[in-house]
Amino acid sequence: MSKPVIVVGIDFGTTYSGFSWARSTGTKEIQLVTTWPTTDFDYSSTHDKTRTWISYDKGNREPSSYGYEARGNPFKWFKVLLQHGHYSADIEYVQDANAKLKDLNKTIDNVISDYLKWIWQTGISDIRRVLGKSFESIYDLKVVLTVPAAWEPFARDRTKRAAWAAGLPKNLKLVSEPEAGALYSLLHREREKSLKVGDIFVVCDAGGGTVDLITYEVEALRPLKLKECAVGKGDLCGSLFLDIGFEQMIKRKIGAEKYVSLRERDKKDMISQFEYRVKRQFDGNINKKMSVTLRGLGSDVEDSDEDDDDLVHFRGWVFLDLCFREKLSPKLFKTQRSLDPILKRFSKKFARKQTG
Ligand SMILES: Nc1ncnc2c1ncn2[C@@H]1O[C@H](COP(=O)(O)OP(=O)(O)OP(=O)(O)O)[C@@H](O)[C@H]1O
Ligand SMILES: [Mg+2]
Repeated sequence: MSKPVIVVGIDFGTTYSGFSWARSTGTKEIQLVTTWPTTDFDYSSTHDKTRTWISYDKGNREPSSYGYEARGNPFKWFKVLLQHGHYSADIEYVQDANAKLKDLNKTIDNVISDYLKWIWQTGISDIRRVLGKSFESIYDLKVVLTVPAAWEPFARDRTKRAAWAAGLPKNLKLVSEPEAGALYSLLHREREKSLKVGDIFVVCDAGGGTVDLITYEVEALRPLKLKECAVGKGDLCGSLFLDIGFEQMIKRKIGAEKYVSLRERDKKDMISQFEYRVKRQFDGNINKKMSVTLRGLGSDVEDSDEDDDDLVHFRGWVFLDLCFREKLSPKLFKTQRSLDPILKRFSKKFARKQTG
């Protein structure tokens, strides 16, 4: 008799990653790992996913800390480095990552393996905690790992190899990120009985690194059968490019030399304020004013951005007043990759499909 199955879903994201699992028997309820270690330092309000961060101490090839707890100046955004040509080698963080790899004598694939190994082991401990130590003798494991829809075969292959090196099973399957999102939302709708054969859905998965669009037509209901009805489109224009743009803007503002001299902890704190407060509270009102604080600037710092005078000093703290209309929108969006070209290409294809 075949063993019951545990399906494990790993969402390896550019900025956040998660681990979930479900049993093929009983309630089949999806269990989400929420025991990711955190520090008070981060503004995160959820433990559903952990940071895709990993740190190595100088001269040590073994990772020293992971996720929210990653120390110092951690490796970030390494997932997007898997597909060459999707990023420009002159982007500062790519240069930074390459310099770190050289120091460590590692490849980006090794770093991804180190990170996935931690995710895998944390997730497996969670299953063990719930089901007991011998769960592997009772259940077969089936593992599914997400990849961006835009990943070319060689990037998918590299992801798989990195996962195997991390100890994930050989029967590992890859699923495209918007497909996983579509299946989740469609199954929910099917339960609500609002789904009809012939319905067409466009799923937009706007992540940290990539934004993917994919379209499905419902072919049959029970069991749910879908077919992709216009070729999916995606690009590297996720939310992290706003974070990078914001940091560059601050660096220009206070001067690169001064910025480099600040403590990593203080810079990390300021970027977290941007990520969790400024960016997420944006509601379309471009006249709104927000501020972030940056410690360690001292009172002697000059605003090197000639048109601006929005550094406010107060008892050793510096507040940067940011108005969406005057500061954030023009400076961040002008230079960043935008979703518009993808939407244009996609709507052309979709229109052709609908008339053809
Ligand atoms: N309300 C919000 N407004 C704007 N940005 C947000 C909001 N909530 C989350 N984000 C941003 O979305 C990103 C996280 O999204 P998600 O977890 O889907 O990405 P990811 O899985 O890490 O990346 P990818 O799927 O592209 O590899 C972060 O950059 C975060 O700052
Ligand atoms: Mg994602």
